[in-house]
Amino acid sequence: MTRSAEPPESMKDVEIKTAKLIHINAIFQALQEVANEIPTRIDSEQRLASITETIRNCVASNHSLIACTSTGEIAGFILITFDEVEKFLRNKPVLELRYGGIINKFRNHGIFARMLQRVIAYNYKITAEVSKLNQTKIRNILSGHGFITHEEKIKYKFIWNPQQQEGKTTTPSP
Ligand SMILES: CC(C)(COP(=O)(O)OP(=O)(O)OC[C@H]1O[C@@H](n2cnc3c(N)ncnc32)[C@H](O)[C@@H]1OP(=O)(O)O)[C@@H](O)C(=O)NCCC(=O)NCCS
Repeated sequence: MTRSAEPPESMKDVEIKTAKLIHINAIFQALQEVANEIPTRIDSEQRLASITETIRNCVASNHSLIACTSTGEIAGFILITFDEVEKFLRNKPVLELRYGGIINKFRNHGIFARMLQRVIAYNYKITAEVSKLNQTKIRNILSGHGFITHEEKIKYKFIWNPQQQEGKTTTPSP
């Protein structure tokens, strides 16, 4: 990957915002663009309905984010929902990172990293699953932000734990 020293003009004004109902269509279009890489299929009425429902639920959580330019062009999104099972088991809010993506032309300028930092700043436990078929840098990015990986048969599970991070900063190195 080649990184430009100076981000192009269009990157400078990319702003991270909480996703709202009015963004649902734009998020859907962006998700369609990156679906093959996740990978997820949106190739039947049933899947379309299910994805649309997921986007709605994630936006309703009020913790999902979009990245957009000053002209309203969407650069990317992170869809978050509350993990109800984990919440029930631990009696604490747990965020589940359902889908995330950055449109091709906006990639490799740290936009996803900026969005992830915003999610981490909520300071809740975060879980995410990444398919072993995913060929992007998502695993490196999550690990680089302190997510712990658990390998399963067809996917990787990632967990970010606030307590773990506190331990990291407070424990003096030997
Ligand atoms: C994975 C994905 C979200 C990454 O988005 P991105 O915005 O390109 O990611 P970032 O730019 O934040 O990080 C990519 C690289 O740019 C680097 N970077 C960070 N800040 C930067 C900056 N200011 N300028 C240039 N590069 C920067 C990152 O360190 C990273 O490099 P590394 O992999 O060598 O560590 C994107 O490839 C994508 O949409 N993939 C398809 C969908 C998908 O797979 N989603 C994940 C599963 S749901």
